[in-house]
Amino acid sequence: MSGKLKFTRAALVAVMVAVASAGAVGAAEARVTPGTNIVGGTTASTAQAPWAIALNNSRSPVPSGQYCGATLVKANKIVTAAHCVTQPISTYTAIQGRDRLSTTAGKTSKISKIWKDPQYGRVAGHDVAVLTLTTPFTGVATLPLETSRSADAVGAQSVVYGYGETEGTGPADTFQKVTVPVLGDSYCGQVYADEGYVANGEICAGYKAGGKDSCQGDSGGPLVLNGRLFGVVSWGIGCADAGNPGVYAEVATYASALTAQINN
Ligand code: ARG
Repeated sequence: MSGKLKFTRAALVAVMVAVASAGAVGAAEARVTPGTNIVGGTTASTAQAPWAIALNNSRSPVPSGQYCGATLVKANKIVTAAHCVTQPISTYTAIQGRDRLSTTAGKTSKISKIWKDPQYGRVAGHDVAVLTLTTPFTGVATLPLETSRSADAVGAQSVVYGYGETEGTGPADTFQKVTVPVLGDSYCGQVYADEGYVANGEICAGYKAGGKDSCQGDSGGPLVLNGRLFGVVSWGIGCADAGNPGVYAEVATYASALTAQINN
């Protein structure tokens, strides 16, 4: 099945209803069959990426609670996707420093406040949110935001991290990473014309031939370039399919709004 995938794992059932009533952001559909974490990636280490956060949710359909990703940008602030924050605030747990979600390694925190970009769902793009941790991850390295809107040059070798679907290319619920080159706004503008790709607010990254991509459950997680938070996993049609690359919220576009929340 195909469709604009902007849904978290827990939204799989709600999605089938949402497809019929999808609004301003575009029609959407979720993967409803098991199969395919990061697709085509390799096992990563949170020691090397301490700012990578697993955003679990008690309503997740998967036993591990895996739901979305996020990025630590201040001791008590994480950036994630707006479409990841549709559940009650008490259902979320942020986890840092846990390579396999089947273990209890690392630090955890509940969420005390959710800021979702108020334009999300009204206009295309804006798939960003800032969450406040009840228990700050003090002493953990944070990732600075990319602020240059021209950082998304074609060919830039960005890396995406997450615990999401692997389509059988890796272990489940295990921290993975994959390098995805920037494909450019004109490419996604063509292949995702119907889905409403927004050049000013989204990044197009992956491989024209497919094979390597982020996937369901990776949403909200970090796309990293030059040691900065460059993008936030947002959507794609399927995962790692030829001609359907990953789309990421462009952090530079929203950097001032995000920074205001981070400093708040
Ligand atoms: N919307 C998905 C999520 O909620 C992320 C989809 C990313 N898809 C892709 N092909 N890169 O987890």
